[in-house]
Amino acid sequence: MKRGYQESSSSGSFGPPQSKFKYNPEGDAQFLEDDSTKMFARKVADHYSSRTNQTLEEREASPIIHLKKLNNWIKSVLIQLYTKKGDAVLDLACGKGGDLIKWDKAKIGYYVGIDIADGSIEDCRTRYNGDADHHQRRKKFSFPARLICGDCFEVRLDKVLADDAPFDVCSCQFAMHYSWSTEARARRALANVSALLRPGGIFIGTMPDGNVIVKKLREVDGMTFGNSVYWIRFDEEFENKKFKSSNPFGIKYKFHLEDAVDCPEWIVPFHVFKSMAEEYDLELIFAKNAHVFVDEYLKKPEFIELMRRLGALGDGKDDQSTLSPDEWDAAYLYLAFVLRKRGQPDQTQVSIRRDKGKMHLLKEDIMYISGQV
Ligand SMILES: C[S@@+](CC[C@H](N)C(=O)[O-])C[C@H]1O[C@@H](n2cnc3c(N)ncnc32)[C@H](O)[C@@H]1O
Repeated sequence: MKRGYQESSSSGSFGPPQSKFKYNPEGDAQFLEDDSTKMFARKVADHYSSRTNQTLEEREASPIIHLKKLNNWIKSVLIQLYTKKGDAVLDLACGKGGDLIKWDKAKIGYYVGIDIADGSIEDCRTRYNGDADHHQRRKKFSFPARLICGDCFEVRLDKVLADDAPFDVCSCQFAMHYSWSTEARARRALANVSALLRPGGIFIGTMPDGNVIVKKLREVDGMTFGNSVYWIRFDEEFENKKFKSSNPFGIKYKFHLEDAVDCPEWIVPFHVFKSMAEEYDLELIFAKNAHVFVDEYLKKPEFIELMRRLGALGDGKDDQSTLSPDEWDAAYLYLAFVLRKRGQPDQTQVSIRRDKGKMHLLKEDIMYISGQV
């Protein structure tokens, strides 16, 4: 059965394959959030909210600076490959707006950023305005923007963004796994993406590679593994290290990444993500582990040059610095994915959106939304 906020009549007689796991028949119609789910979402939000902005010097001194630069390169490649001039972009879990410059380089026409962490959204606002930001290299961004603070894996964003949709590109960088605590949240995440993308629109993202994490867990004796820059710890409830395909949600672990992350995360079994996305009319174009992604796209001259500029592997001249073996091992924990919303873009449709963004955002321009929306 096809899912989403409304049944599509244009899909023909054969539907997408069904996912194999048992789903809650209430699906996303009735949103079931218990206290512990809310508590964990709050924990994640508080963790990111409390992360202060670093100066350029502090950032360069980070033990994972080359990993951060590599991740920025991966996101930049995805954005350059799948964004066109004038596109309307929805950035789910936008954080402090670390990708604003990338979107500007892609010459997008409109940007909506949403994040659960109010501190991060406020940082995103000041970064967008070009105020007091150590990383800011340019004065002004060339696209109008709108910022929203809320839980994008709980709230029905199609209602909140009815006047802004449809979007050409939706991006969810290093965050999709926070939706995998329950089936209802994972479904809400995919339903939101599907409802807001135009037919033919693109969903790009990065998230932990569940296969790699489970493989690494099985390689060690205990429930914890890692290296000098990260560790991952599973609770004893998973001590047999077997994860039932009938129950692919709520597989929680604690993730610590030096100078970046320290909060609960959830395994996303990719085959489940893929088949569930199909139910929401989102077809997989590709998913590649970060190591494979680097290997493939680092063969292309334009992306070699981008890597040189971002400096993850040094600058190709005097700066020979590169990722440490432990950083490279941490990069292996992630994958990049691209999905496409089924259907053909409607060439005749006149765009009526883009009137809600501003070129300078005041505090009161940030919209705060809750699950009741
Ligand atoms: C690792 S950061 C990535 C930020 C940004 N996408 C980037 O790549 O720089 C993860 C982000 O996900 C956000 N996040 C986690 N759960 C969320 C939720 N339920 N709704 C919206 N944002 C969420 C966090 O607040 C945090 O900003």
